[in-house]
Order: sequence, then C-alpha cells, then structure tokens
Amino acid sequence: MARLNVTASTATTITVDGREVLAFGGCNYLGLAHHPEVVQALAEGALNFGLSTTASRETTGNTAVHEDLERDLARWMNQDAAILLAEGYTANIALAQALARDHGIALIDAKAHRSLRAAATAAGMQVFEYEHRSPTSAAWLCRQYGDQGVAILTDGVFAADGALAPIPGLLDVLPGRRATLVVDDCHGVAVLGARGSGTVEHFGIRDERIAITTTLAKGVGCYGGAVIGRRKLIDSVREHADVYRRSTPVPTPFASAARAAVGVIERQPALLDALRRNIAQVRGGLNAIGIGVHGEDAPIFTFVLDPRERMPRIHHALLTEGLYAPLIEYPGGPTDQFFRITVTAAHTPEQIDRLLAAFARHCAA
Ligand SMILES: Cc1ncc(COP(=O)(O)O)c(C=O)c1O
Repeated sequence: MARLNVTASTATTITVDGREVLAFGGCNYLGLAHHPEVVQALAEGALNFGLSTTASRETTGNTAVHEDLERDLARWMNQDAAILLAEGYTANIALAQALARDHGIALIDAKAHRSLRAAATAAGMQVFEYEHRSPTSAAWLCRQYGDQGVAILTDGVFAADGALAPIPGLLDVLPGRRATLVVDDCHGVAVLGARGSGTVEHFGIRDERIAITTTLAKGVGCYGGAVIGRRKLIDSVREHADVYRRSTPVPTPFASAARAAVGVIERQPALLDALRRNIAQVRGGLNAIGIGVHGEDAPIFTFVLDPRERMPRIHHALLTEGLYAPLIEYPGGPTDQFFRITVTAAHTPEQIDRLLAAFARHCAA
C-alpha cells in the first residue's frame, strides 16, 4: 500500500489528507507515545540536557539518565543488568557482536525479524534457520553444532502475526555449554506478563541463558533500544560491541521519556488491564464475524480475506469511512499482502465496535 502522509496523531487517531481517522495500526500498544507524563519527561530531558549527548557514552557522552534507565529496565524485567543502544535493530547488532566471541553458531527462527539475521551475519556467526516456532527443528541443529557455541535467536512475539515463541521448549533444547537464547522482545515488552515486562515474564521464567533485546519505540512509546540479561553478558556488550562503544547513544530526552514510560507501566497496571480487555474484544469480535484470528495475548491481529483481490477495496472503503486498518506487505506474514490491525490500551470499546461493525458490513457485501 502507498506510504501514509500523516500530519498529526493521537494515541488512537491519525490525520491524513486533512482528515482525522480512527487508527488501528502501529505499535503504540499502551498509548505511551502520547502519554502526558512521558511527553513532559521528554521536554524536561531536552531542557536539562539538550538534544544529543554529541558523543559516545564511553568518551564524554554518558548521563545519569542513561544509567538510571538501564537500572530501571533491569529491575522491571527481573534481569541482572541492561545496556542502552540507539535502536532495537542496533541492540541486536550489539548483542551479536558480543556473543560472536564465543558463540560460533546462530540458529534463527525462519520468521524472525530480519535484524536478527543481519546482526548475526555481520558479526561473523554461522547462521542456520530452524522451522518457525519449532524447538524440535532447533534441537536437530543443536545436535549438529552444539560444540561450537550456539545462540538461538527468536522474536518473543512475532511482529507480523503476534504469535509467541515457544520459549520453554527452546530453552530445553539449548546445548549445555556456551549457549544463549536471544529473545527479541520488541512486541512483547510493555504488552505481556503480569507487570508488562514481556514474553519472558509471561512464561514465568528466569534463566541465566536468556538475553532479551528490545526497542523502546513501540510499547514503551519512545525511542531507543536495549539488551537486558546476565551481568557478564551485558558487561561483554559494553566492553566489546563496537556499535555501542563507537556511536552516540539514544538522545537523553528519549532516555528520560523512556524512564517515565516504564514508571507509568509499573504504577498504572490499569493500562495493561485495558489493553487486555481490548485484545479480547477485538479477537472475539473478529472471530464472531467469521474472520479467524488466533493467538491469545498479543494486540496484533493478522488475516487475509478471500478472494484476496477485494482486500485493497475494503481497506480504501474503511479509510473513506474514517477507519484506518493497515493492509501491509511485510516478511513473516501469512501471504504477501495481509491485514495487520493492532489495538491499544487507549481505544474505547465503542471505537473497537465501530471497526468490527465496518468489517462485518464489508465482509458480508
Ligand atoms: C521484532 C523487531 N525487532 C527489531 C526491530 C527494530 O527496532 P527499532 O525500530 O527500534 O530499530 C523491530 C521493529 O522495528 C521489530 O519489530
């Protein structure tokens, strides 16, 4: 589909061609990109620190805000330590640069985010794909290459369709020595788990062999990335990852905003409750009108409508009615082109009903 030209947005609407439409796209799962406390923290960060540290943290660009945010993320995610990177993509590169020192092999889920493959390849690891969400397939590769140091790399929540990785099963098949499970949790953080800290919390696991990477630009609503995990590994990223040492960190205003966002998530569990209610309403509503969606916990709903040719027509008709339901082309989806709608904690039940009623009408036509 054509790129949108958005001229303004709120947590639930975008303005396109001078018209405000109700939006069910993007990854602002808790609405934090527009939360007053978060926006205020960004403004204060800019006033207190300027816009950029203008240097790498290991030269002259470190701030207390960056260090505090790392501590906040580690505490929230129940891990030893965290390190900030400029984005989620860069976090995967930084982690791979550290892992490659003693992990020669990267086993990657066939539908994992492209950044994981790019990161492992660039770091010089030998890359193999295992079947999507299959510990059995990963186990077979582990048996072949287990003596060379193995990292299994997967999304926690898959970006295209909201499916969850089988984290317990993948841990079970990791070889005994020099082995790490990398969970890219860009779509699980600020969504899953009792405290909203992500897929690993959702499965109730604490395991030294897990390393989590995330963006701060989706559920957290800000900008930046992080690697979170065992202290020795985080220290190794800090010491050895060139992309960390030789680049400017996430701008301090965004680090300040991300601290505020994590604080909001921790203090206001009602936000997570609202997101979960909305997820249930969308899933129940779509299934009720015959649009089969599966998965249970993520705010991402992916589907195709047969015959496929009518999908662009329905997409445009909805937009004309003031509803934005993205029809996208993205790796890892069910077909080349598919609807991927997302819901946030900020949507009201009435807004969701409006979307469901419109789909019901157009599907019946
Ligand atoms: C699963 C996944 N990993 C990594 C990224 C990259 O994160 P960032 O946009 O912060 O670079 C994204 C999305 O953009 C993503 O969906």
